[in-house]
Amino acid sequence: MNKKTAGRPRIRTPRVELHPASVKYIFKGHPWITKDKYSLKFPKGSPFITAKLDEVKNDDAKFVVMLNDPTHDSVLARIWRIGEGSSHLGPKEFYFELRERMQASFEARGNIDNRENYYLAFGESDYLPGLFIIRLKDRILIQFYANFWNHFESDVLKIVKDFYPKDTIWVQKRNLKRKKEFYCATNKQLKEDNFIIEEFGVKYQIKLNQFYDIGIYTDMAAIRDRVKDNFDEKSVLNLYSYTGAYSLFALKQGATNVTSVDLSQKYLDWLQENLVLNEMSEDHESLCMPTIKALEKFKSEGRKFDLIICDPPSASSDGKKVSKAIDAYKDMIPLFDMILNKGGKAHIFLNTHSITRKKFENKIKEYIGNRKISITGSLKLTGDCPSLKGFIEGDYLKGLTLLKK
Ligand SMILES: C[S@@+](CC[C@H](N)C(=O)[O-])C[C@H]1O[C@@H](n2cnc3c(N)ncnc32)[C@H](O)[C@@H]1O
Repeated sequence: MNKKTAGRPRIRTPRVELHPASVKYIFKGHPWITKDKYSLKFPKGSPFITAKLDEVKNDDAKFVVMLNDPTHDSVLARIWRIGEGSSHLGPKEFYFELRERMQASFEARGNIDNRENYYLAFGESDYLPGLFIIRLKDRILIQFYANFWNHFESDVLKIVKDFYPKDTIWVQKRNLKRKKEFYCATNKQLKEDNFIIEEFGVKYQIKLNQFYDIGIYTDMAAIRDRVKDNFDEKSVLNLYSYTGAYSLFALKQGATNVTSVDLSQKYLDWLQENLVLNEMSEDHESLCMPTIKALEKFKSEGRKFDLIICDPPSASSDGKKVSKAIDAYKDMIPLFDMILNKGGKAHIFLNTHSITRKKFENKIKEYIGNRKISITGSLKLTGDCPSLKGFIEGDYLKGLTLLKK
C-alpha cells in the first residue's frame, strides 16, 4: 500500500448490476466483463466494483469483486475474486491480496534456468488481470493492459522492487493503437535500454523503448523449446521472421540452412545483429518481401524445405492490401504443399483470440482439401504462459503441425 492510500476512510465498494450472460460466463471461469448496456453504467470514479451473483444460494459465494476499467475500449471490468470474504474491497486489502498473488506467480517460475526471458506474471492466468511481467535477464518489464492499474502502479512497482531489488525495472502501457509508452521506473534518466539476453543458448539483442515490441516474443519461448527436436539437419524456412528468434534457434538446434522472410527491413537488420552476435551468419539468408511473394519465388525456382515456421500477425499488409492471417492461409497452404519435401513439416500459427482453435483447424483442413498433407499435432501457450479454463481470449496463440506425406 502506498502513502496516498494508507489510512483512508473505509468507503463501501459500489454495487453494480451485471448482464445475466456475464453472470453465466463468470461461473464458467471467464474473467472479463465486456461492453454491454449494463457495464456501460459502471461508475467512473471507483477502482473496484462489486455485484451480486443471484444464482448462488451459498452465503460464501454471493458476490463478485471486480477491477473497474470504465475507460477501456472493450473490457470494462475484470474479475478479482468471487465467493470469498466480503463484497467490500478497499486499497489496503487489495494491496495485500495483490502482493500474495504476485508472490505466488513469481515463485511458480522459480525453476526456469535455460533462458533469461520468461513471464513472472501472465495476467488473468495468474489471477492478476491485465498485468503481465517479463523478466529479461536483470531487467523486468511490467506491462499494463488495463487502465485500472494506473490506480495501483506504485504498489505493483513496490512489490516488484521488493522481490527483485537489484533489477532495472521498466513499465509499458500496452494499448490497442500500439503507441509506444515506456518509462524506466528505477532510473528516470534512462530513456532507452539495449542489452543482450540468452534463450536456450542463443543470444538476442533486446531494445526497450525503441519500438512497441522489444525484439523477442517471450510467449513463444516455451513453444520453441517444445519443437526443438525438429530442426536437426533440416533446411528451414522461417516466415514472418521478425528479429529471427526461430531462425537462430533452428541454427542452434542443428539446421543445415535457414531462410528468413519478413516485410520489414528494420527487423531483418535486427535479425542480422542477432546473427552476428551468435556468429551464425554463414548458413542463413534473409529475404525482405511479403511472404506470399517469397513462396511463389521458391515455387518457381523449384526450391524445397524440410521445415516451415509460419507465425503471421493476426492481420497484415503487403503494402497494398490488408489480409487476415486466417485468410492468408488459403493461399499459403497450396504453396507449402509445393515447397515442402516429402516427410517435411510446417508449424503454423494463428495469433488472435477472435478465432477459436476448432475454427482454425477446420479452416486449415478445408484449405488442405485432398492434398497430401495431414495435421499431426497442435501447439499452445505453455510453461510460464499458462491458460485459464473458461477464458478463450487467453488462448490467443494457436499452432498446428502439418506433415507433407
Ligand atoms: C508476430 S511477428 C512474428 C514473430 C516471430 N515468429 C518470432 O517468434 O519472433 C510478425 C512479423 O511479420 C512481419 N510481417 C507482417 N506482414 C508480413 C507479410 N505480409 N510478409 C512477411 N512478413 C510480414 C512483421 O514485420 C513482423 O516482423
